[in-house]
Amino acid sequence: MSCQRFAHGGNLQSASEKYGIPVEEFIDFSSNINPFGPPPAVLDEIKQNLAEISHYPDPDCRALRKVLSEYLDLPPEQILVGNGAVEIIYLIVRWKRPERVSVPAPTFVEYEKAARLEGSSVNYIFLQAERNFQLQMEQIEEAVEHSDLLFLCNPNNPVGNTIPRPLMEEIIRFCDQNGVLVVVDESFIDFLPNSTEASCRRLIGRYSNLLLVYSLTKFFALPGLRLGCGLGPEKIMKALAWLKDPWSVNCFAQRAGIAALKSPSFGEKTRELITQERNYLMHNLGKIPGCKPYPAEANFILMDISGMGLSAPEMVDRLGTRGILVRDCSSFVGLNSHYIRVAVKDRQANDRLLHSLEEIGGKRVD
Ligand SMILES: Cc1ncc(COP(=O)(O)O)c(C=O)c1O
Repeated sequence: MSCQRFAHGGNLQSASEKYGIPVEEFIDFSSNINPFGPPPAVLDEIKQNLAEISHYPDPDCRALRKVLSEYLDLPPEQILVGNGAVEIIYLIVRWKRPERVSVPAPTFVEYEKAARLEGSSVNYIFLQAERNFQLQMEQIEEAVEHSDLLFLCNPNNPVGNTIPRPLMEEIIRFCDQNGVLVVVDESFIDFLPNSTEASCRRLIGRYSNLLLVYSLTKFFALPGLRLGCGLGPEKIMKALAWLKDPWSVNCFAQRAGIAALKSPSFGEKTRELITQERNYLMHNLGKIPGCKPYPAEANFILMDISGMGLSAPEMVDRLGTRGILVRDCSSFVGLNSHYIRVAVKDRQANDRLLHSLEEIGGKRVD
């Protein structure tokens, strides 16, 4: 039922049907979820509160917002909780009703879809492979001239790179001076070793044109529960809340969020393991003849496989028959059928991917 043009990773069910391998036997590198699963306290919390389904959830998510407020170091009034970050993205566009939205290409597709559903036109800012898909200030100056909303994804999905902090602030300032709303999606920010410094949260009071999107589904491995939030000036959060389904954040998602944010060593442990495994994957992917991984700082890696003599759909097929699911990036505007994206997983899974790629494309040079 989902549209190919706006496809996502993580469709294990259809991969299982296509390749005749049970879902539980697939290793899913196609969705960028914390490979260590949710903090154990999350599952306990849900199990212990099953009877709560007979009540409506708190529409204001007060208890969760209090904990989020401490975690994000923002007042609760500047936080709006949603049914995943995606709900917030759609609410922002519905509230702003922009004429023209600028989006980098490639980036997460839902910005464009949200814009088109509101009748906005979309302006692509094409990121260059030769520049490792890094955004340039000149591109912003050009794009912003005729836009009223700019989406930025930091770290950017599907590339995994970040916008350097001084450039980010220059962009926000420039957009402020030109009456452009900037929405920075920080759904993967927690995976960065310097996540607090890298986040734009501290800029919220300083620039009234800045909104942030934040997700708990990636880092805390809760995509099936759905949990994200919008961060920004109180007035705008209230306006977004007015447009929202009052009970979109269910009782388990609220409880899970609190338990996850209060899990003490989970964050540090995840960042440590992801950094170690990303470096390992990057190093070894780079040794596979014809495979070009791009510099990445989050929990996924984009690679150009054109040198391996296979297109992305062909590679997806070859790996699929081996029970490995990767993301074909052909559908991203700004990429083509030479690119695949893989999530960073644990050592055992990463080794299986590396060995399969070696078998398919050649030998690793040690
Ligand atoms: C950049 C980005 N933002 C938001 C989302 C969606 O997050 P959520 O599951 O919280 O709706 C995704 C999912 O892939 C994403 O890549």
